[in-house]
Amino acid sequence: MNELCIAVVGCGKWGMNHVRTACALFGDKLKWSCDSDKWSEKKVKEIAPHCRFTFDLDDIINDSTVNAVIVSTPAETHFDIAKALLKAGKNVLVEKPITLRSGEAKELHDIAVSNNLVLMVGHLLLYHPAVLKIRQYLDEGKLGKLQYIYSNRLNLGTIRTEENILWSFAPHDISVIQFLAGGVPEEVEARGAIFVQKGIHDTTLTNLVFKGNIHAHIFVSWLHPFKEQRLVVIGDRSMMVFEDTLKDNKLKYYRKGFELIDGLPVKIDSEFENVEFEKTSPLELEQLHFAECIQNGTAPRSDGRNAIEVLETLERAQAKLMNK
Ligand SMILES: NC(=O)c1ccc[n+]([C@@H]2O[C@H](COP(=O)([O-])OP(=O)(O)OC[C@H]3O[C@@H](n4cnc5c(N)ncnc54)[C@H](O)[C@@H]3O)[C@@H](O)[C@H]2O)c1
Repeated sequence: MNELCIAVVGCGKWGMNHVRTACALFGDKLKWSCDSDKWSEKKVKEIAPHCRFTFDLDDIINDSTVNAVIVSTPAETHFDIAKALLKAGKNVLVEKPITLRSGEAKELHDIAVSNNLVLMVGHLLLYHPAVLKIRQYLDEGKLGKLQYIYSNRLNLGTIRTEENILWSFAPHDISVIQFLAGGVPEEVEARGAIFVQKGIHDTTLTNLVFKGNIHAHIFVSWLHPFKEQRLVVIGDRSMMVFEDTLKDNKLKYYRKGFELIDGLPVKIDSEFENVEFEKTSPLELEQLHFAECIQNGTAPRSDGRNAIEVLETLERAQAKLMNK
């Protein structure tokens, strides 16, 4: 494979993080940035003066040296942009949600597979060292049998007009919960509430049931007085809590639970332990993984299949929100 040559399409709030990270990791291999807004050019030039800027996606499509494109435009544009890039033979990392319909994600996945291209979705938490540490503890049996997971993702956040809170926030939580539960849910229930914009949910609560009596819930809201990102994982031997909004001691391990002694539940209680994890930023690890997969021709952890599984759960939850 040729040397890595990267472009970032969509240089808004999150896309600039991609530009900054790609510039730090790959230097002048970040060749292009693209945005429909002229103010983005100035912001990109401050971070990556060497990086060419264009309003026209075709400049990237027609540059045969470009082999890796990161798409960080609004969700409703992902499908058309990613499809055009894959059809032009580019490996693509698309931000979450990969598309707004699972059928479209399947189409992208099929194009990528039949052309031996990498298609990856930005399910950032699958690259978070704390989440990988929880998965390691589960695999090593330190938590015992997985019983319950819940995720709160709450903030006075960016209210989107083109998608509701479920589609904006919950792809992260669904991807993590399915990653830890080791599959897709058998049952999905969801309730939500609309306050700010007609027809767009501001808060949702989704309940998931997985094979093996594993249960989960996801509470997301952008109408909340402070930022909270809390993931709680309960096993029958012990429990873990990951709070990404804390400054320090984000990951804790609790030897807590109940044991049945002579048929009666007896509480096991003790102090928590802080769990150390690698401090590299998840976005760096995500982009490095994208580059490695391109270099080695391997499937990413958050590949097209993974993206489809998350979208299907989102669609099932959305149908419940709409009482379908
Ligand atoms: N992985 C994460 O943790 C994370 C965090 C925040 C946002 N996101 C995702 O990143 C994406 C972008 O979010 P954002 O908050 O940066 O949005 P944003 O609105 O701030 O930025 C989007 C940018 O895309 C540009 N754009 C729109 N259509 C375009 C087109 N056709 N071609 C080129 N540029 C175009 C806009 O001008 C804007 O600069 C969304 O999919 C969002 O869900 C992911």
